Amino acid sequence: MIKPHGAESLTPLYVVEDESRANLIREAEQLPSMQLTSAAAANAVMLGGGYFTPLPGFMDRADALQVAESMHTVGGLFWPVPILNLTHSAAGIETGARLALRDPNVDRHPVMAIQSVDKVETLSDDDLEELVQQIFRTNDTKHPGVSAFLTQGNVLVSGALQVLSFSYFATEFADTFRTAYQIRDAIERRGWRKVVAFQTRNPMHRAHEELCRMAQAATGADGIVIHMLLGKLKPGDIPAPVRDAAIRKMVDMYFPANTVLITGYGFDMLYAGPREAVLHAVFRQNAGCTHLIVGRDHAGVGDYYGAFDAQTIFDDGVPAGALQIEIFRADHAAYSKKLGRVVMMRDAPDHTEDDFVILSGTKVREMLSAGNPLPEEFARPEVAQILMDHYRTQSA
Ligand code: ADX
Repeated sequence: MIKPHGAESLTPLYVVEDESRANLIREAEQLPSMQLTSAAAANAVMLGGGYFTPLPGFMDRADALQVAESMHTVGGLFWPVPILNLTHSAAGIETGARLALRDPNVDRHPVMAIQSVDKVETLSDDDLEELVQQIFRTNDTKHPGVSAFLTQGNVLVSGALQVLSFSYFATEFADTFRTAYQIRDAIERRGWRKVVAFQTRNPMHRAHEELCRMAQAATGADGIVIHMLLGKLKPGDIPAPVRDAAIRKMVDMYFPANTVLITGYGFDMLYAGPREAVLHAVFRQNAGCTHLIVGRDHAGVGDYYGAFDAQTIFDDGVPAGALQIEIFRADHAAYSKKLGRVVMMRDAPDHTEDDFVILSGTKVREMLSAGNPLPEEFARPEVAQILMDHYRTQSA
């Protein structure tokens, strides 16, 4: 099986053994505590599940800046996005102490991890500007990732973690949320050797569905891991339970049995385009996948990134050999009226734009909000129905 990133085996920070976990939960009652930002909580969930192997916890200032600038830690590990615990005030947080981390997304904010505080550092405005520019390629606060990042505060609390819960993901998405080690296990049990991962934060339409088939055929993969983001999104994006239902329906009806694993991970969307695509590759390798599909405007938002920047970063930003996972680069896919099927545009050089059925996300939302069905060339009717039902309850 493909090796995890930077390690011989996964290093999940979740404390599996019940008695140790109970002891840590008891210890946490006596410890000073801080409430995490949603982004830091999501980092803890990813660290807990082994997705961020081989990181031992939250990065310090030197690593954060080095990773932002060069996609490497000070120690030389390839890593694309700083993994941080940022907060507004250092009050009550001491270097060298143990600190209980509270979950911002669950009622009464239970402790979700214990951190051994290595450093408490204050980031300057220049530091924050540097981080944001490098991660997002913009400092525009209208960018949802930039604004989420900059509202977290400027006090950086770094150090190793022991994770005690997977937050609301384990309970609200019991059938879908999976850790990296659970996905590795599932792949191993099925005997799959080549596995294509599909990242998504959307319900899957026919283009998405077809990209999975094309990638599977092109790579000779035994199976597909649909790996959906279950954390926070920008307003207007479709909520995870609705996407989950739509994806399950699509797989159930249109894929052969036992060829697709439907899974999700607990992380908030960064909308960091190219850098997020590389992070996606790192944690799909950790989940045991050999290939990742990267298509048009992967992890993008608005006009902040070129349509294929998230592919070119693998050519000019990721050093050879830094990752073992391979990228299936997909061109813009759409239904061809001439051919009567979904194709990648590079495979239909004689087509003009009018030969394709293309609907923007905004147009799709408008149609669904108005109760209009989506064209069958664009979305499977059963998927469209689930989305229409969602929009109807929204407007009711
Ligand atoms: S993402 O933010 O998670 O990337 P989305 O769920 O829309 O958004 O896309 C999932 C994957 O499918 C990404 O790799 C994206 O580039 C790709 N993709 C989505 N739509 C298309 C399309 N029409 N043509 C090519 N690639 C696409």
